[in-house]
Amino acid sequence: MKKFIYAVAALFFTAGASAQQNVSILVHDQATDGQIIPKEIYGQFAEHLGSCIYGGLWVGQESDIPNTDGYRNDVLEALKELKVPVMRWPGGCFADEYHWRDGIGPREDRPRMVNSNWGGTVEDNSFGTHEFLNLCEMIGCEPYISGNVGSGTVEELAKWVEYMTAPDGPMAKLRAENGRTEPWKVKYLGVGNESWGCGGNMVPEYYSFLYNRYQTYCRNYGDNRLYKVASGASDYDYNWTEVLMKNIGGRMDGVSLHYYTVKGWNGSKGSATQFDEQEYYNTLGKAVEIESVIRKHIAIMEQYDPDNNIDLLLDEWGTWFDVEPGTNPGHLYQQNTMRDAMVAALSFNIFHKYTERLKMANIAQIANVLQSMVLTRGEKMVLTPTYHVFRMYNVHQDAVYIPVEVPEIRATDSNGRPYPLLDATASKASDGVLNITLTNTSLTEDAEMTICLDTAVKGKVHGEILTSADIQDHNDFDSPDVVRPMQFKDFKIRNGKLTITLPAKSIVSLCVCP
Ligand code: AHR
Repeated sequence: MKKFIYAVAALFFTAGASAQQNVSILVHDQATDGQIIPKEIYGQFAEHLGSCIYGGLWVGQESDIPNTDGYRNDVLEALKELKVPVMRWPGGCFADEYHWRDGIGPREDRPRMVNSNWGGTVEDNSFGTHEFLNLCEMIGCEPYISGNVGSGTVEELAKWVEYMTAPDGPMAKLRAENGRTEPWKVKYLGVGNESWGCGGNMVPEYYSFLYNRYQTYCRNYGDNRLYKVASGASDYDYNWTEVLMKNIGGRMDGVSLHYYTVKGWNGSKGSATQFDEQEYYNTLGKAVEIESVIRKHIAIMEQYDPDNNIDLLLDEWGTWFDVEPGTNPGHLYQQNTMRDAMVAALSFNIFHKYTERLKMANIAQIANVLQSMVLTRGEKMVLTPTYHVFRMYNVHQDAVYIPVEVPEIRATDSNGRPYPLLDATASKASDGVLNITLTNTSLTEDAEMTICLDTAVKGKVHGEILTSADIQDHNDFDSPDVVRPMQFKDFKIRNGKLTITLPAKSIVSLCVCP
């Protein structure tokens, strides 16, 4: 796709500066060469970590918590509403210690293990391959299996693929004995996770040779076609991507990348809810730095793969703060505020621009871990502000990317990193509906803006807004609706243009009917 490149005057402010009045945004809704925004950009990640699986997704059939075959009903409903396109499992770091045979057969016979990565919790393996793949079928998403390279064998991974996908043969027979005759469809297969760290502390040369060997024996059975993903770089490790591109090349369909919005890996990462203005803007600065990281990895990939056959998959991203006081430090349970919602919105706006190469993103994680969609405690569940952003943005899934010109009104955080005060993204759905999503990151200033399309606005316009009184606002079990989307009506259509007041710290979606 030809990318629209605009020369727009960049205005810079110091941190926290006000947004602009009378801003004009141009939405090129008649552009015809738009890339489809792959729905997989809105992917999820579920790891055996803390209460992501146990208590978050799964409570077991015997539980008093309302469930369907062991899956929590409230979470199932919430996930269906999100239109989850793909879910990565069982880790993360857990994946390279996971032995799939421990998680099949009668649950009472399944061996236990210590989850040594995550708090030393005893894992009873009651949620295994069947439970995960059946969940994917129930909510209608693609499974993304993360295979064990760090401590598993080639044979173990090869047989797992056969167990899940072969229509007949010894593994299919074992699967049928465990209650599933039909093979599942499994497209995405990760060959290791963070192989530079918890996945085996390898150097990229060694990992890439190992990848080549492991993937050789992961076969296509019946009409199942695997899409193989190499374990990619952490953030700024461009050498890792380069070595993999050189040594693996076309033997992978995609290479992953992990990027967390984190203050630093040593010492406090800051509270998820108690933060000041400066920390808020610093979080945004770190979050949007992902754009330059994505660009640099893509530039390397382009050198080795100019025909764009290998995809970049951001299969872990999101905010990482200190755990909530009193919770297990190994369980990574954090609250989720309007700040997290801002990070999610700005991130999607960036992802949309790079979908020629960036084909998937999986937020960490789906429940009760890091920047999650839902938080659960006993029979209670709350939807997080991040959940609401995912729901508001799901109109962009598989829609045609529409270029938007937003004046670059930027500020810099206290680390010298720029972030936008105003941001926007747009797409057109197959029924012709134009969806525009706008973000005002300023804590104090509303923005008056005019939105001009290539043609005059003719049809009806519907709006929705996510905002709150304080940026630290969040939803808790006793007050679950502090941050929630509301109908938005503060816009007018004048001379075929939309004029709108975008409140401070808000995310607004406008749906323009044809
Ligand atoms: O998402 C938590 C952890 O972060 C994952 O297990 C690991 O891959 C990453 O370091």
